[in-house]
Amino acid sequence: MTSVLVTGASGTTGSRVAARLAERGVTVRAAGRSSATRFDWYAPDTHAAALAGVDRMYLVPPPRDPAPQDVMLPFLDLARTCGVRRAVLLSNSLVPAGGPMAGTVHQAIAEMFGEWAVLRPTWFMQNVIGGHAHAIGIRATSAIATSAGSGRAAFIDAGDIARVAVEALLAPEAVNADPILTGPESLSYDEVAAILTETSGHVITHTRLDPAEQPAYYEALGVPAHTARFLVGMDAVVASGVEDRTTDVVRRITGTPPRSFRDFAVAEFRS
Ligand SMILES: NC(=O)c1ccc[n+]([C@@H]2O[C@H](COP(=O)([O-])OP(=O)(O)OC[C@H]3O[C@@H](n4cnc5c(N)ncnc54)[C@H](OP(=O)(O)O)[C@@H]3O)[C@@H](O)[C@H]2O)c1
Repeated sequence: MTSVLVTGASGTTGSRVAARLAERGVTVRAAGRSSATRFDWYAPDTHAAALAGVDRMYLVPPPRDPAPQDVMLPFLDLARTCGVRRAVLLSNSLVPAGGPMAGTVHQAIAEMFGEWAVLRPTWFMQNVIGGHAHAIGIRATSAIATSAGSGRAAFIDAGDIARVAVEALLAPEAVNADPILTGPESLSYDEVAAILTETSGHVITHTRLDPAEQPAYYEALGVPAHTARFLVGMDAVVASGVEDRTTDVVRRITGTPPRSFRDFAVAEFRS
């Protein structure tokens, strides 16, 4: 019987992956420091119990760790020993195999597991709700403040990432690739603000920040300093134009197209 370990199970993608797997009748082990199965990347004594009896796993790296391989590579070894045969890693569109952040783990997964996928989504639509810095800024100031200028990104719904992850975990044929996942269209933050205004009924603008003033702006809103600094780099990427692209991966792997930002916003703000 198929049994899947879902790490980051309380998070944006993991919660959706776990729910969709359960809908498919799969046994799900929801893991994390606050989940049903207590699991902490930095507490190796929690790892074996999380892996016992599972044959597939969805991996969300430890947040904000610049070297997640230090804790994830020993875990991958243990997972193989415990009989896990398929691994699906959440990375991001900017990081190639062997690159920074999850890049080392990305490369290792492709080499260690006969069945694998590394999902590389672009910016999440869910960044404008919940605890993300943009959402905090919107609630506090009715503005989404970036240094991305007129740069565009093909924002993706976390639900679509989860749909791809579930197929990557369950389909008879493993993906064995590292696809870039995008929404259906790329949007500037001006366009994002316009859609949020139209769907929420509140005027939300895009404030164009100078990169030098951006960390202080967000720190004043209570965003942690490392996150505020991280946003500057991310906005520079969007400003450069490299995220102005779409792929057909969601449709190809799931059979249905990804949700548009407008449909996401309507569901969030009009329901
Ligand atoms: N936001 C974006 O636009 C974007 C775009 C592309 C890629 N990504 C990638 O998405 C990933 C984040 O995924 P997400 O949004 O699904 O997660 P998330 O909502 O940020 O939640 C993080 C999850 O990790 C768990 N966690 C935190 N510390 C942990 C620890 N020490 N040990 C075990 N689990 C721990 C948390 O649960 P507990 O606190 O209960 O442990 C939570 O379930 C990042 O790697 C990021 O690079 C994000």
